[in-house]
This record gives sequence, structure tokens and C-alpha cells, in this order.
Amino acid sequence: NKGKHRHFMEKEIYEQPEAIGHVLAHYVGLIENNADPIPSFDFASIPSLAISACGTAYLAGLIGKYWFERYARLPVEIDVASEFRYREIPLSPQSAALFISQSGETADTLASLRYCKKLGLKIGAIVNAAESSIAREADAVFPILAGPEIGVASTKAFTCQLAVLAVLAISAARHRGTVTENEVQALVRSLAEMPRIMGQVLNSIQPKVELLARELSKYHDVLYLGRGTSFPLAMEGALKLKEISYIHAEGYAAGELKHGPIALIDKNMPVIVIAPFDRIFNKTVSNMEEVAARGGRVILVTDEKGATASKLDTMHTIVLPAVDEIIAPMIFSLPIQLLAYHTAVFMGTDVDQPRNLAKSVTVE
Ligand code: F6R
Repeated sequence: NKGKHRHFMEKEIYEQPEAIGHVLAHYVGLIENNADPIPSFDFASIPSLAISACGTAYLAGLIGKYWFERYARLPVEIDVASEFRYREIPLSPQSAALFISQSGETADTLASLRYCKKLGLKIGAIVNAAESSIAREADAVFPILAGPEIGVASTKAFTCQLAVLAVLAISAARHRGTVTENEVQALVRSLAEMPRIMGQVLNSIQPKVELLARELSKYHDVLYLGRGTSFPLAMEGALKLKEISYIHAEGYAAGELKHGPIALIDKNMPVIVIAPFDRIFNKTVSNMEEVAARGGRVILVTDEKGATASKLDTMHTIVLPAVDEIIAPMIFSLPIQLLAYHTAVFMGTDVDQPRNLAKSVTVE
């Protein structure tokens, strides 16, 4: 039942404040009460963490890597499952491994889980489908509590995966003694703001995003740029746009621009720059200026502070509320998802059932 929405994808985008609320209710209480959300994971003693997943779930894992490394000082080895399982990565049996999957049935992710299990690693599963193969074969299951996701393009599962990864990273940091109790409380307070801010963003950006989507639907190629946790988000933006609108899109680390893709810049390829006002904002702005100087059209997705700080003349600027760094990836996911959605609607594609794609990929 799509309710008042035209597509399941739209409905699922708008369900995110509530879905994230469920994640927080389940996990944050555990952190606050000093209970360990990960009893079978001794984060304090593992030398490293391995993460494996496919598609959007992999991109969530990449953002998780930034958090585990920054907050918990825990080295993370991550790859797409189809590479992970064949790379012969030197993994220590003392390590733990996390597998992220909405469906819990993705063939390559399941195979990389079995591979790690054989090597003796502790196995954690971040899944939406609690009754799935990946959940069944794990030592610890971390449900993302997103509710059924019908649209083939993943939206609420992505932000709920991120929320669970953030909680696990904070919990790992606490167990490893790499953050103070005050820092833990500040991070938890930021997480708790998410449902309210997400609701506020979803209620306000649609007219602007629709305007932009109408324009975007006229182009054949789009480049997404981001730094830090906005880099995986740039790849997620490109993935979402290509899978439902069939417009060719690529996500790049902003700093890689001058190592190749800058050759493509002209007025026919809009560049979407994802840049919350964080400690690396100025670096991203200088990449944006390089695009503008070559006649490229910049669409800036930033926050109030970033919009004030950047003097650049953009084709469009989407301005979000200024939020703490830990929740920026979830908040910035919203305009990225809506932009892909409305562009696809303008193109007249089958948004919920894009050609050649399946919701659950059970073949390798
Ligand atoms: C993208 C998308 C896919 C899935 C991927 C993994 O919108 O839906 O990239 O994320 O096929 O699927 P799960 O999470 O079920 O393992």
C-alpha cells in the first residue's frame, strides 16, 4: 500500500524519520544504559574489522569505515562482496567481520560471510530481513528495523544501516577507550536529533528538488563529488540516479577530480557537490571552483553555514540545516534520494521496478 504516495520509493523516503526513530529506540537506549548492543562482539580486543556487502549496502559500510577508524581507532578492511571473497585478504581469526544486507540473501555477501566464518572470525550481520540466510548464519544479528522495503532502489534501508553502523562505531569507541564519556553522550545526543531534522528537511526541500530534477532530466551525464563520508554518499547519489533514471552518473572523491574526470567538465555535465560545512569543507570548495573555472555547472548540496561560506555562483544550491558531523550522511542522503526519485519521475521510468534490476540478488 503506497498510501498517498505515487511510488513505494517515495513512500519509503518519507518513512525515514520514523524508521530511524525505531533504530534509535532499539540501540541508543542500550548505549545510554551502559548495556552492550553487541554482546558477542568484543570490540575492545579485536585487531581489525572486516566489512563486506554489495551495492548500496557496501556504500553504507564505506561510511561506517570512516566512523570505526575515526572514533574507535579500529582499522577496517572493506570491499564489495564479489571481490572480498576472492581477494585472499590476510584476515586474523581474532578479528570480527560485519556483513550488511537489506534482503539478507545476497549471494556474494552470504558467500563472503561463510568465507570469514571458516577462517574463524566473529560474524555480525546488519540486516533488514531478520529471517534471512545471512542473519541465520551470523553470531550476532543487528536488525536495521526499517520495515519492508518494496522499491528496488534502496532508500530507508540505507539510512537505517548507517544509523546502526554509527551506533556500533560509538559503542566500539567506548569499549576501546578512544572517546570520553562526554564525547559518547554528545554523539548520542546528535543521533537523537535525526528524526526531527529528517522530518524538517523532507517537509521543506521538495519544491526546490523538483525544480532541479526537471533540469537534471535533460542531461546525459552527471558527476557527484564529495570528501570524507560525503565521498561514499556521492557514489550512492550516482548509483541511485543511474538505476532509476538511467542517466549516466559517477561518484568521485572530490580530490580525485584533477586526476582525470576534470577533463570531462563542460556545460553539458552538471556536477553535484555534496559538502556539509565540516573540517574539510574548504578543500571541497576549492574543487568546486576548479569545476566553475572550466565552465562546469555546479549544484551544491550544503548546509546553512556552507551556503554562507561559499561565494561561488552555482546553478542551484540546496541548503540543509547545519548538523553535527556524525549525522550529516543520513541527513544529506535525503536530497540525494529525492533528486534521483524526481528526476526518474520526470523521465517517466518505472521507478519502483527499474529495468534489469531485482530487489534480491541471489545469483553470483
Ligand atoms: C541499490 C540497491 C542495490 C542493493 C544491493 C545489495 O539501490 O538496492 O545496490 O543495495 O543489491 O542488496 P542487499 O542489501 O539486499 O544485500
